[in-house]
Amino acid sequence: MNGLEIDPFIAALPKVELHVHIEGTLTPALRWKLAHRNNIPLPYKTYEELLDSYKVTYNHRREVNGDNGAPTFLEAYFAGCQVLCTEEDFYELAMEYLEKAQSMNVRYTEPFFDTQAHTRRGIPAEAVLNGYLRAQRDGAVKYRVRSNWIFCFLRDESLEDGLEAYRAALPWARTSDGQGKGLFHAVGLASNEYNRPPMLFEEAFLLAKKDGLHVTMHCDVDQKDAVDHVHESIFQVCAGKGAQRIDHGLNALDREDLIPGLKSRGIGLTLCPHAYHRRQATETLFPKIRKLWDEGVKFCINSDDPTYMHNVWIDGNMMKAYHFCGFSKADMATIVKNAVEMSWADEETKGEILAELKGLVEAEK
Ligand code: ADE
Ligand code: ZN
Repeated sequence: MNGLEIDPFIAALPKVELHVHIEGTLTPALRWKLAHRNNIPLPYKTYEELLDSYKVTYNHRREVNGDNGAPTFLEAYFAGCQVLCTEEDFYELAMEYLEKAQSMNVRYTEPFFDTQAHTRRGIPAEAVLNGYLRAQRDGAVKYRVRSNWIFCFLRDESLEDGLEAYRAALPWARTSDGQGKGLFHAVGLASNEYNRPPMLFEEAFLLAKKDGLHVTMHCDVDQKDAVDHVHESIFQVCAGKGAQRIDHGLNALDREDLIPGLKSRGIGLTLCPHAYHRRQATETLFPKIRKLWDEGVKFCINSDDPTYMHNVWIDGNMMKAYHFCGFSKADMATIVKNAVEMSWADEETKGEILAELKGLVEAEK
């Protein structure tokens, strides 16, 4: 599906990932292993059948596209989540991701996670949070990949449910009172956006801001009301101040006030080109990304849900942008710099990555 060799320059770039759902990194191999370890039945008799199930083109959203008999992406993704049961499972998932991140020269990452997809299956939130916390600490030492995580509200669940999940998770946050365990430092949204605009969760965003957390907003591409959701994210959420980042947000190109809004408010987009390339032709998609660049919109390149998206990770996504947008090596370095600047890493981490990037760019001259 990718069909592109990763250029050595792209491979060598020190990377920052700001848009990856941790459960979207669950490999078929780990899924198979955990299903057996936890006695979770899978609807596949053999490992090969499980692998084959990833080869379908998912229905983007049944509400938007109608039923073509294929599962939606979210159905496949939540089916994968079923095998995650114990603290050790969440730890292994995160450690595998951090190991993979290290192999791609990712130096710093802000993975999305949620507890609601797991607590509604009867898994205690502590198992999720402690597993990720342990991996955050061990991964920084073992793989030298630092991470600050992002708690997501499942937007197709109620605000009340989300608030309850948030309150339960708060002791694991890095709150401004310095009391938390330091796993996550931001909140965002995940799951099905259909008829679930960001403003439904305004109370939760205000609470998170009061607790000293950052706020980012998922605005999926070509959803019903996508343009309105981007508008809310720029101009309405957080008492009109807007979100600090927008995840995806490609439809900002579709209404004239949105690009100026992104720029004047300094809101960057976390783009995931391969996720869109699954559904948009090369000639349609990459000129849009190029237009954002030419308009001066800040963005970085990320992976979203790599194991459910043909195993295309951040390096494959960067390669697609490099190849299909006609970006130069200097442009790709700027995209990494954007990611550093859009991140909420500490200044020391940012400085180290920027220094490494500068060294690489100078060696290329
Ligand atoms: N949760 C995990 N991956 C997601 C995606 N790509 N869109 C919406 N919610 C998600
Ligand atoms: Zn996403």
